[in-house]
Amino acid sequence: MSVIILAIESSCDETSAAIIKDGKVVSNTIATQDVHKEFGGVVPELASRAHQQNIVPVVDKAFKDAGIEKGELSAIAFTRGPGLLGALIVGTSFAKALALGLEIPLIEVNHMQAHILSHFIEDPKPEFPFLCLTVSGGHTQIVLVTDFLKMKVIGETKDDAAGEAFDKSAKLLGLDYPGGPMIDEYAKKGDGNRFKFSKSKVPGYDFSFSGIKTSILYFLRQEIKKDANFIKDNISDLAASIQQTIVEMLIEKIELAANENNISDIAIAGGVSANSGLRAAITDMARKNKWQTYFPALEYCTDNAAMIAMAGHYKYLAEEFVGLDVAPLARMPLI
Ligand code: KG4
Ligand code: ZN
Repeated sequence: MSVIILAIESSCDETSAAIIKDGKVVSNTIATQDVHKEFGGVVPELASRAHQQNIVPVVDKAFKDAGIEKGELSAIAFTRGPGLLGALIVGTSFAKALALGLEIPLIEVNHMQAHILSHFIEDPKPEFPFLCLTVSGGHTQIVLVTDFLKMKVIGETKDDAAGEAFDKSAKLLGLDYPGGPMIDEYAKKGDGNRFKFSKSKVPGYDFSFSGIKTSILYFLRQEIKKDANFIKDNISDLAASIQQTIVEMLIEKIELAANENNISDIAIAGGVSANSGLRAAITDMARKNKWQTYFPALEYCTDNAAMIAMAGHYKYLAEEFVGLDVAPLARMPLI
């Protein structure tokens, strides 16, 4: 009999549902919440409300797109954490209610583990062991992955995440939230060597991004005093220089981790893995070292339920189920 799992993702500002059949994703529906744009960041209360409005239509569409009926489901997987508690409650409650009604098992999924497992949605797939640089709006981690469900964080940020560094820098340039993709766009036309911003030095495989924002802020303040149009006239070079600084900080640590752990398969995951500068720099680094690199398709880089479904599939095979008393976790360690 086929294993068919419905997966629900509601950790931040994307309401998403996906269906996976025997390890193959057969639908993936996403409703992006535009309501946060005017506030320059995700407003947790508004995110919860939007999840409540979106979840039924999103799940309905996932079933329709897959051509699957509720009665065919083997289990339901959901994001338990990490994320915004009020947002996670919506997906968790929905998953619990449906599992109870259909009398099928419930599977909790760690959102960060799912970002890594997004590499198994499509070919080519990394081989174990591999290193995954997980870079999103809330996390920056280097993870040593030895099996589908065996992962160890060997490095992480001490303060801001890489996505936050992109978004906060973009805000200083007057760009809308989330600014990461816009920095990427402007950077394509700019000179990344034009401006230099200070990089924090952190030992080992850890990162620190909070200093870069301050360095950009002081620099811009000085330049704007001399020329009020400084940002507007130099937006592409500014974006390219900011992107290059963040990317160099990421590359330095992943290269060190790969060398010291003798690993030649490198993957990137999370929203920032959509960044074209990061993709190019990782490709260059890999070519130089004769390593293999893996990038998820763009639709699986940012938050989506297909990756939750993938994690749900492996947890189903491992018979890792949870009871109906499970509660969401705003903070949830990878293992
Ligand atoms: O993984 P994700 O969708 O949500 C979290 O779990 O946080 O990541 C969102 C982050 C945001 O900070 C966004 O600005 C960043 O990913 N991002 C990018 C790009 N696309 C998304 N940052 C830089 N360049 C991009 N092309
Ligand atoms: Zn994410």
